[in-house]
Amino acid sequence: MLITVGSERTTEATIHLCWKTSEPIVIAGVELKPHMRERGAAHLLYGRGTESHHLVIGLGEVAGISYEILRNAAGVAARTVQKEGFQTVAVHLEALNIIEEIKENENITSWTEGWLLGSYQFDRYKSKKKVFPLEKLHIISTSTDGEVAVQKGIIRAEGTMLARDLCNEPPNILHPESLVEFVETHFAELPVDIHIYREEELVKQQMNGLLTVGQGSSYKPAMIELSYATDPKQPLIVLVGKGITFDMGGMNVKSGRDISDARFDMGGACAVLGAMDIISRSGIQANITALIATADNMPDSRAFVPSTVITYPNGLTVQVGNTDAEGRLVLADALLLANRLGAKEVVDICTLTGNVGEALGLGIAGVWGDQSFVEEFASIGEQNGDRVWPMPLIDEYEELLHSDYADMNNMSSIPYGGAIVAALFLRRFVDPSIRWAHIDMANTVQSKSDKGYYTAGATGYGTRLLVDFVLSRQEEFFK
Ligand code: BES
Ligand code: ZN
Ligand code: ZN
Repeated sequence: MLITVGSERTTEATIHLCWKTSEPIVIAGVELKPHMRERGAAHLLYGRGTESHHLVIGLGEVAGISYEILRNAAGVAARTVQKEGFQTVAVHLEALNIIEEIKENENITSWTEGWLLGSYQFDRYKSKKKVFPLEKLHIISTSTDGEVAVQKGIIRAEGTMLARDLCNEPPNILHPESLVEFVETHFAELPVDIHIYREEELVKQQMNGLLTVGQGSSYKPAMIELSYATDPKQPLIVLVGKGITFDMGGMNVKSGRDISDARFDMGGACAVLGAMDIISRSGIQANITALIATADNMPDSRAFVPSTVITYPNGLTVQVGNTDAEGRLVLADALLLANRLGAKEVVDICTLTGNVGEALGLGIAGVWGDQSFVEEFASIGEQNGDRVWPMPLIDEYEELLHSDYADMNNMSSIPYGGAIVAALFLRRFVDPSIRWAHIDMANTVQSKSDKGYYTAGATGYGTRLLVDFVLSRQEEFFK
């Protein structure tokens, strides 16, 4: 599908963005009813014979219109257009020029991003695939360099869709070994150096979390290191992702009628890989390393059992109270490696606890860490839709990690505040000189239904959050 920008031209259908004002709006001779201007509304006015059709998309109150509202509107519009089977459509984005907060090129990027993400479907395993005839989306805008804004939206959406694809892929296809192969192939053409730690090198580097968690699977665990260093003089930022390709719980085996969602336990890894894809295509000057800790968490005669003690190279010993709290065990290896690589800032992102969803619901992830850092993430997420809410690191809760025979347990001694206790666990593996943020996205990794620019399945959450964080750092560095 082609996306073009320019003045008005004839297409099979035209999309109109409408919001609530006291003035009447008439489109193709029809006065819009108030409910057509509500946020999220999509109504079609069919043309007769060869007349073109009109799709009315409601944006709600003008005061609340933001880029996120636009991305969601684009997602809804894209799916409506798919369903109708139109071949060429145009959207009036120039209508938004009167809204002061909305900048012309950003609205083009947002629309492109939302449109592509809203059209996404994971149909690799459907024998009957839906094919849509849409060939061209024309953006009506007064911008003179709109193509650049479109390109930006495409790169952002493609990186996010890469994250969705990887996350949606089932574990019989995407396991730790095939993930490594995928990364090697995908990034071979991009300006990224790749190093894979596996087998003896994991042993040599004492990555004992990965070695222990991976014991029960026939697929070998690995630490994937990707480095994008177009300006190695910049302070090193390390992005860490949890890549459990299937979380069966290990010996504390998960149960339930359908636990297929446990394939989403690599959402953090997907966010980091999606972000690295976007960063490495953007050509920015940066110094970024990605660390993906990947393993399967399977029960097996060789699998680790509760009460196992893991010794980490920083001297800390961990009693495995529960093999299902595996994420923190493998993230610990990555955080220690980030220290060794000389990171100045570290962000880890992971589907770490069920508890984060209990605390925050399904629409916003949790972020812990250095106060100013955490606030930066919250404000970036508010802008780009990967929302994240600041959560506390409560020192008094440290005692909940007590172990009678090791330095700490991998689970809390009480069934409350599990997401906070997990964050406290990770903190013990971060050097205090490093600025650190931890994002628990167990609640935002998937969407149960098509909604705005989300489609049912993996959301690709965190990809754009990490990218915009890295971009904010560039600006800070060049100030
Ligand atoms: N991957 C899970 C967390 C999770 C739960 C993600 C639900 C998405 C949806 C993690 O490895 C896990 O199992 N955590 C346990 C920890 C507990 C055993 C201390 C949890 O949150 O229940
Ligand atoms: Zn688990
Ligand atoms: Zn897990």
